[in-house]
Amino acid sequence: MILDSNDISAMTTRNRAALINSLSGYKSANLIGTTNSRGETNLAIMSSVVHLGSHPPLLALIIRPGDDERHTLSNLLETGYYTINHVSEGLISAAHQTAARYQQYESEFEATGLSEEWKNDFKAPFVTEARVKLGMRFREHQVLEINGTNLIIGEVELIEAPEDSFREDGSLDLTVADTVALSGLDSYHKPTTLKRMAYAKPDLPPRELD
Ligand SMILES: Cc1cc2nc3c(=O)[nH]c(=O)nc-3n(C[C@H](O)[C@H](O)[C@H](O)COP(=O)(O)O)c2cc1C
Repeated sequence: MILDSNDISAMTTRNRAALINSLSGYKSANLIGTTNSRGETNLAIMSSVVHLGSHPPLLALIIRPGDDERHTLSNLLETGYYTINHVSEGLISAAHQTAARYQQYESEFEATGLSEEWKNDFKAPFVTEARVKLGMRFREHQVLEINGTNLIIGEVELIEAPEDSFREDGSLDLTVADTVALSGLDSYHKPTTLKRMAYAKPDLPPRELD
């Protein structure tokens, strides 16, 4: 089956959103923790975290258009800090529920039963139940001209992950950490590692690690 631009335009808004959201493949599943200056906390599931650079350690996040009703966006711009918490298998239902439109004064932590964790004077709440937790300092905000989407760039200032998920080469084994993957806006997956491949070089054939 092939769909062209006319077919895509003719789809209902809901179906088009479902289709286009599934095109970018398996994505990361993260809970973004923030607070405002009144101490009202917020937690939202987001699948758009991507690597931007390692030195300094930067991750980007895409937040949908609209300022006032976007609590994650307004909070992280206000305080300059946010947390990224990987969703693990046991957290899927609660994590998904954070996508509901709660009022600013209603905390998704309380609404979903997840617990706030404050550590090292970090100015944003972590999710106690998460196994991989990142403390992020806000660095840059770009409103993309093409559709008003917000590109948020943050620097990783704190990393917490289970001891046994750190590999010898420094990378995290996300299967050991129990991090799940997301597709579209509603499907959660448990990945298995098929192969690990060595750094690719033009003069060498593909080689498996381990
Ligand atoms: C699986 C899933 C992934 C999502 N990913 C994003 C995302 O990457 N960026 C975004 O702005 N909203 C995303 N959302 C929607 C937000 O979770 C939702 O708008 C939420 O209410 C935002 O909360 P806030 O207003 O408290 O920031 C996603 C929703 C679901 C269910």
